[in-house]
Amino acid sequence: MKKLIITPALSLLLAFSTATIADEPLYTVTNGNEVDEQTFNGFRLHRNFCARCHGTFSEGMAGPNLAHSLNRITKEEFVDTVTNGKMGQIGMMPPWSHVPQVMEGMDAIYSYLRARADGALGEVRPVLAK
Ligand code: HEC
Repeated sequence: MKKLIITPALSLLLAFSTATIADEPLYTVTNGNEVDEQTFNGFRLHRNFCARCHGTFSEGMAGPNLAHSLNRITKEEFVDTVTNGKMGQIGMMPPWSHVPQVMEGMDAIYSYLRARADGALGEVRPVLAK
């Protein structure tokens, strides 16, 4: 039987690659509104699927201000609420488990909202950084 031998070189490589993934920033914002592709994609998805209840920049409308929510809830709670919806005191948050764009864009939407929650991005229309 063949054994998988983890050489020192391989384990170093593994350690390095996980560190790289963990350290990767969720978003980048320069000059106030120039963002990376993932964050820009998140803004567009938010505009298409979330803004009608949460506001153009998620500043809150029928649904709560998600820039505030993200400083209170965990990423896991975010994913769970978006996937399964939530019936709460404010109202009805619909589930998105059947909408592939939202499910596949979950991290992108999170990046956009994280930038808003951290104050890196204000209530401004982001543009894709060149
Ligand atoms: C039809 C209106 C509507 C749409 C569209 C909508 N939401 Fe919501 N959402 C709500 C309401 C209302 C609540 C508050 C539920 C409650 O009473 O706690 C909410 C709550 C949430 C929460 C929990 C906030 C907290 O503080 O616990 C998250 C996260 C969230 N929405 C994300 C999203 C995302 C992401 C999208 C787009 C993919 C989206 N919502 C689309 C109405 C909506």
